[in-house]
Amino acid sequence: MRSVVRGSCADVERVGVNALPHILGDISTEEFLQHYWQRQPLLVRSAFAVDSLPVVSSELAVLAEDPDVESRIVLEAGPTGPWELRSGPFRAADRQTLPATSWTLLVQAIDLWVPEARELLRYFDFLPRWRLDDIMASFAVEGGSVGPHFDQYDVFLIQAEGQRRWQIGSTCGDDTPLLSGCDLQILAEFQPLHDWLVEPGDMLYLPPKVAHWGVARSECVTLSVGFRSPTLADMLGDLAIEISAQGNDQHYTDPALTPAMAAEDIDPAFIDQARDLLSALLNEDGLLEDWFARYMTLPKYPGLEHRTGEARTVRIGGRAYRNGEISED
Ligand code: SIN
Ligand code: CO
Repeated sequence: MRSVVRGSCADVERVGVNALPHILGDISTEEFLQHYWQRQPLLVRSAFAVDSLPVVSSELAVLAEDPDVESRIVLEAGPTGPWELRSGPFRAADRQTLPATSWTLLVQAIDLWVPEARELLRYFDFLPRWRLDDIMASFAVEGGSVGPHFDQYDVFLIQAEGQRRWQIGSTCGDDTPLLSGCDLQILAEFQPLHDWLVEPGDMLYLPPKVAHWGVARSECVTLSVGFRSPTLADMLGDLAIEISAQGNDQHYTDPALTPAMAAEDIDPAFIDQARDLLSALLNEDGLLEDWFARYMTLPKYPGLEHRTGEARTVRIGGRAYRNGEISED
């Protein structure tokens, strides 16, 4: 079994004159993609030089006051019960309502609000940029955490300031028991398989569904580079809207009927027909390509592009797409 902790290799592998340092320690990008991406956790010690990381601790409280910025606070033992979730925006005075320990302020999409944070994305150019969702920053006081949980997306957790203890458990599923009666999806049981204290510059990669619990050892900031993971149901819903918007009005037609098929029990031929019709629709020339490019470039905050400068771009079939639309580029 390969080790999941790799030593420092922050500037060993350079792939070109202007390339940024390799951030995966002593494993190659190919090895990471083949053995770790969406498969198993990886801790890279000193993945980043500390002075290459943006210092955002002083900016987060200000960002969290802005109603356009998505922010929340998690308290381990809030007045309303364990793992209380408060949604932003937060006024400076709200800070007075927080205890001395065991809370976390989370601010989404700092890559859109803090230019130095956006720069970090270039280190992840070994993955398609359009797969990325955002960089979330969390500021935690001693003991602060969002509880033991699992996420549905891939994430690189970069320790930017202070120390955090990460405990990593096994892969969860739909039947994994969760605590009832609290605002967050907290695991009812958590058995750590790894226990790591991370320092500024260290980075932890977690695939979807792996249980984890990161508790601040001291005041600390963690930057979470998270990737999109829409449900297939969401994707089908969006595709259906796109098909209608294109004016496609194909209707259902029957398979060859026999008298025996006039029964309450649905004959399997009807299901085959429905599957064939839908498959033929999905296989229409260019349909999936065009929709996928639009879908994967949908802005994180539609309507706020004038403030965020968000520009999600891809190319497919010689066409350029930007923020969910075909663009002229
Ligand atoms: C955090 O940064 O506080 C939590 C991130 C996570 O567990 O996904
Ligand atoms: Co998480």
